[in-house]
Amino acid sequence: MQTDAGSVMIDREQIAQRIDALAGELRDVYGHGPDAKPITLIPVLTGAFMFTADLIRRLPGPLQVFPISISSYPGAATKARQARVREGLTDLPDDLSDRHVLVVDDILDTGQTLGLVHDLLSAKAPASLRICVLLRKDVPRVRDVEADFVAFDIPDEFVVGYGLDYDDYYRNLPEIIALPPGGAPA
Ligand code: IMP
Ligand code: MG
Repeated sequence: MQTDAGSVMIDREQIAQRIDALAGELRDVYGHGPDAKPITLIPVLTGAFMFTADLIRRLPGPLQVFPISISSYPGAATKARQARVREGLTDLPDDLSDRHVLVVDDILDTGQTLGLVHDLLSAKAPASLRICVLLRKDVPRVRDVEADFVAFDIPDEFVVGYGLDYDDYYRNLPEIIALPPGGAPA
């Protein structure tokens, strides 16, 4: 049963309160009211969809959303996962030079995914490029990538819910749940 997946690490109320505060941090950086800088927000699918939906409804200023899709898979030669762009940056404007780009992802783990995204976007020389993550895991990074905005720091446990998956299940759970070691019943 999905609802018995594991133990609640972060509940709905904690998520809602923290995202309120995080939206305030973003408004402090990008401004608000008539002087707000337009944000080009790039959610990394699929895991970031729920976080993005809750975050952007708290950001009333000018904002465009261009999702991208990245897949991670076990590397053949190493134990580390590799990341690759699944569908490319097809909808992204070619010229980012006057844009304030904010990448939104579900979790910073080894850093390979966000490292790849950062490389792709920084090559387009946006006016600014920042990273916002729901979760930052306390593990050594394979890629040296820093998040500018972090909703929660978490220990090295596998989590699901609130957009995060195990084998594409559990994304619909409204809380962030730690799976027991060895996974959970499907
Ligand atoms: P990284 O490339 O190792 O930083 O991994 C980032 C991606 O791995 C995330 O966007 C997730 O899709 C996935 N991932 C890493 N840790 C977890 C977890 O605890 N639960 C669910 N997905 C995870
Ligand atoms: Mg993901």
